[in-house]
This record gives sequence, C-alpha cells and structure tokens, in this order.
Amino acid sequence: MQFALSARAIFDEFRSNDESFQLFCSITAKGEAQGGWENERIAANTADPVLAAKIAQHGADEHKHARLFGGLLLRRQLEAIAVPAEADYCMRLERAGIGLAHDRLREDRPLSDEEILKYLVHSRVTEQRAFEEIHQQEAIFRGDPELGKAVAMVAADEVNHLAYCHEELLRFERAGHGPLIRRMLAEYAAVEIRTYRDVSVAVMMRMGDTLGWSRLKKGVLRFGIHAIYWIERLFTWRRMTTLRPPERSNPLGTPDLQELTQ
Ligand SMILES: [Fe+2]
Ligand SMILES: [Fe+2]
Repeated sequence: MQFALSARAIFDEFRSNDESFQLFCSITAKGEAQGGWENERIAANTADPVLAAKIAQHGADEHKHARLFGGLLLRRQLEAIAVPAEADYCMRLERAGIGLAHDRLREDRPLSDEEILKYLVHSRVTEQRAFEEIHQQEAIFRGDPELGKAVAMVAADEVNHLAYCHEELLRFERAGHGPLIRRMLAEYAAVEIRTYRDVSVAVMMRMGDTLGWSRLKKGVLRFGIHAIYWIERLFTWRRMTTLRPPERSNPLGTPDLQELTQ
C-alpha cells in the first residue's frame, strides 16, 4: 500500500477531482470574503481616518482574493458550495472568543482602542497563517496554468497585510499599549493554533471522504496535523507573537492624512 503525503501530493489530489477542488476553493473564497466584510465594517467604525483607509484597503484586498478563488471555480464551471461549520476557520475563531464578534461588527458604533487592538492582534495572528499557507501554495503551483497566477497575486498581498499588522501594532505599542498587546498576542496565538488544528482535521477528513482515502491514510494525516500542532504549541508559536518594523513603511500604500483631507 502506497500513498504520497507531501503537501504537493495532497494539493495535486485536491485539484485532480472536481468535488474536492470545489470544496477547497469554496472554503478559501468564503474565508477571504468574510475577512473582506469584517475589514469593511471595522473601517466604517474606525474614527482615525488614516487607519480607516488602511483597514478599508485590507478589506478590498480580501474581497479581491474571494473573487480570484471564485473565478477558479467558474473556470471549471463549478459553483461555490456551503462550507461545513467544522471547516469554517473564521467562525470557529469567533466562537473561540478572539477578534471582534460579528454582532458587534453589524453595529454602527465607533470602535474603542481596545477593540481596534482586538482586530489588529487577530489580524497579526491570522495573517501569519494566511501568509504561510499561500506561500506554500505559491511554491507548489508556480507556473501552473490554472492556479499559478491567482495564487501569486494573493501571496503578494498577504506579505503586505502581515507587514501592515506589525506596523500598526508597533504604533499602538509606542502609545503605551505594549503589555495588553503582548498578553493578547500570546492568548490569540494559542487559540489560533488549536483552531487551525481542528479545522485542518475537519477539512482533511472531508477531502478524504470525497477522494476515497483509506482509513490508514486519513489516520496518518490526522496524526501529522496533531504533530504539527504540538510543534507549534511548544516551539514555533512565537513566530505569531513577535513584532518588527516592516522593510517598507505603509505596506498597504494608502494615502496619508494630508492627501485624505484634501
Ligand atoms: Fe486574503
Ligand atoms: Fe490577508
């Protein structure tokens, strides 16, 4: 009995079958669209016009990513399908209590500094994940006629999103919020790696059912996901909680206050 378990082999299997490709693109597009909506609502309730412009840009990028993955479905004449609740990363993070709740985002009421920090710390942690995932896909699909271009476009944006989170959190740190930011970063990273593990298992098992994987193959993959979880929990979680100034300031390239008030 033989099967390949590298990330490349798994992604190749996902895209080789319309049903698994449909699930993969639907999950990704839904996550991106949700991020787009959240950023849009947060921008609308952010009093600082410079920060609001950055958040709005962040949201516009995420909506663009949702359209790119939706476009991949269309090219195969597939439609987006409902994302199973256990595979919904954004909603599971909300239920785990990190970031801003959707009920709060539906309100038209300015966000406090602490709420803005919840958004930024949530973004710092989840954009780290997005950055790592999309760069892995970019390496796998570089030059691929179907997926290469879309994945490269998203990857280029995620670099900037992550850099923007660093820059904004450092600004709040300089304004005296350092201890709260550090506490939240550690808490959010712990919740994220646990949620990511559970979502990964849910997605992989669903894919396994679709692709007819053996119990052994599913078991080995489940074990691998748990092994990664323990490595993250014990050692590599700190990559999500450090802050350093980006090489290029204002990574989202939004206008400054002078331009905004002209
Ligand atoms: Fe994105
Ligand atoms: Fe992003």
